[in-house]
This record gives sequence, C-alpha cells and structure tokens, in this order.
Amino acid sequence: MGCWLNFKNCVMEITLKTFNIGIKKVGIMGCGFMGSEIGYVCAKEGYNVIMTDLSQEIVDKGMARIKSNLEHRVNKGSISKNQMIACLDQINGTPLIKDFYDCDLVIEAIVEKIEAKREVFASLDKICKREAILATNTSSLSIIDIAAPTKRMEQVLGMHFFPPIELMPLLEISKSIATSGEVAKVAVDFGESLGLKVIVTNDYPAFIVNNIAGPMMLQGVRLLEKGLSSPEEIDQSIRIALGHPIGPLSLLDYVGLDVVLNMAKSVYEETKDMIWAPPLLLRKMVAAGWLGRKTGKGFYNYKRENGST
Ligand SMILES: NC(=O)c1ccc[n+]([C@@H]2O[C@H](COP(=O)([O-])OP(=O)(O)OC[C@H]3O[C@@H](n4cnc5c(N)ncnc54)[C@H](O)[C@@H]3O)[C@@H](O)[C@H]2O)c1
Repeated sequence: MGCWLNFKNCVMEITLKTFNIGIKKVGIMGCGFMGSEIGYVCAKEGYNVIMTDLSQEIVDKGMARIKSNLEHRVNKGSISKNQMIACLDQINGTPLIKDFYDCDLVIEAIVEKIEAKREVFASLDKICKREAILATNTSSLSIIDIAAPTKRMEQVLGMHFFPPIELMPLLEISKSIATSGEVAKVAVDFGESLGLKVIVTNDYPAFIVNNIAGPMMLQGVRLLEKGLSSPEEIDQSIRIALGHPIGPLSLLDYVGLDVVLNMAKSVYEETKDMIWAPPLLLRKMVAAGWLGRKTGKGFYNYKRENGST
C-alpha cells in the first residue's frame, strides 16, 4: 500500500526467473462482487488492469461499481479526485476474453461452479501468453481440478481474497500438487505488493478461513430453521459473545446466499462431511432469488441501489 504517493511510477516488477515474467498487467475474469473488488485493489496499487465478463452490460456494471467505490473515498476525503482518475485510468473493461492475450497474471472470479471454471481455464490457457500465471479466487473448489484442463498446471494456483479487501487484508494462496514453488513465490510477492498478509495453504476444500466461517454460517441457518431464535438474535449472540464484527446470517447476506450454497454443495460433495450439508432453508431462499445484499433481500431486507427495498 502507500502507492498513491507516486502512483504512476509504482508498477511492481516481480521477476519470475524461469518464465522471465514481470507482473504489470492483470486480467480479471468476472466483474461481479469479487472481480470488482480485486480489480479496484490491483489498479489502486498501480497495476494495469483489464476486466471481462459474459457481456458488455455486466462489464459496465462492474466498472460502475468500482467508480462508485472510488467516489465514496473521494467524498470521505481518503483519496483525492486526481488519485481517483489515476486509478480509473489503470482499468479497462472488455467483453472479449481474447483481449487477455498479454496479461502477466489472470485472476478468475466467476461463479463458484467447477465446470464453468474449468472451461474458463481451458480458454485462458489457449489465449494467454505462455509465461502468464493463472489464479482462481475460488472459495472452496479444488485447484488441481481447475488447473487440469490447462497445459500449464505448474502456473495455476488459488488466490483467495476477502471482501472488502481494504478492511480484510488477508490473501490465501493455495498451491495444488502441480503448482511450482517459484510461481507461488511470485504470487506471494504480488499479494504483498497489494498490502495484504499472505498465507500459503495446500489444495484442501475451502482452505483455512472458509473451513471455519463456512460451517458457522450454515449452522446459523440451521438454528433459524429450527426456530431457535430470530436472525437478529442469532447474529447478536455471536457478535456480543464471541466478539465477531458480523453475525453469521449478516455475513451470509454480505457474501451472497448463492455463493455460500455453491461452496457448501461443492465441499460436501468432496468431503461428505455433514457440517457442509446445505440446509434446506438456504436452498429455498436461493431458489426464490433472495441472495442477500445484492438482490435487496436475504435474511434481512436492504435498500437497493435504485432506492427500492
Ligand atoms: N462473495 C464473496 O464474499 C466471495 C469471497 C471470496 C471468494 N469468492 C469467490 O469469488 C468468485 C465470484 O464470487 P462473487 O461473489 O464475485 O460472485 P458474483 O455472482 O457477484 O460474480 C460472478 C461473476 O462471474 C460472471 N461469470 C459467470 N460465468 C462466467 C464466465 N464463464 N465467464 C466470465 N464471467 C462469468 C457473472 O456474470 C458474474 O458477474 C466465486 O468463486 C466465489 O466463491 C466470493
């Protein structure tokens, strides 16, 4: 961090000996909640960022989210208008994945479904230059399963960010059995250049943080399902007694009920551990489109961007 002072000159050059790669240009696959967060943080630290999604319309929404994030900071006085303009100058949106051909690093943040991620990695492998590192922001899926469709498994790893990244400055880097140590080192240096505390883990479903946070959120839903108490009281209990900044049901609304359901399904499928069995109520709420903050309704109601609730 601290890059704002000398914004244009702060592009990190991290050298990977074997592949002779200096990370300057970062591609972000997926302009949803996490893609916008990651794109913003990379651009803020001086990286040249390109973002894509399924359509120009979704890309535009992601770019608008980043702009509004920056405007909020200008209004708070934490950055100047010039810094906001410099940051936005660093980011381009495109509906075409082929525009990622010259990226040094691609971070994928699309839907948490293994088939979709494998397809994207197969395409990235064909499009990206040979030296490029391909990372996934998966919350729970197996890194080697995602890497396998590529011809560069040694250059594929997990880079798991936590939103909002500026307030939750941890990065879990996950190495598959095929990831090279050299590539992991470049990823660690890159994460540190974003001002993050980096933890390296092995390729285990849900890694460290979500192995604790995931079952806690699911258990919150089960208690609600059993009629033990209201969402407010379940959340308050955890906040007050355990000192957590946010309760499990509010956290679910923040992360997205669909995201947590997909995570629970995939980890349960992989481990058959009952603590990951998706609660029926969670399935029903996702089927109803009550995905949390992003749709205005989850365990709580929220004001949407257009002002409706
Ligand atoms: N939400 C969280 O708090 C959180 C935290 C850490 C990691 N993650 C992980 O990040 C990833 C994205 O989660 P999110 O919350 O940003 O979801 P999201 O639904 O907000 O965004 C996903 C985006 O991916 C796009 N997409 C889907 N398929 C695509 C494809 N084939 N090509 C290009 N774009 C595609 C969608 O259009 C959407 O814009 C998931 O793997 C999730 O597990 C989420």
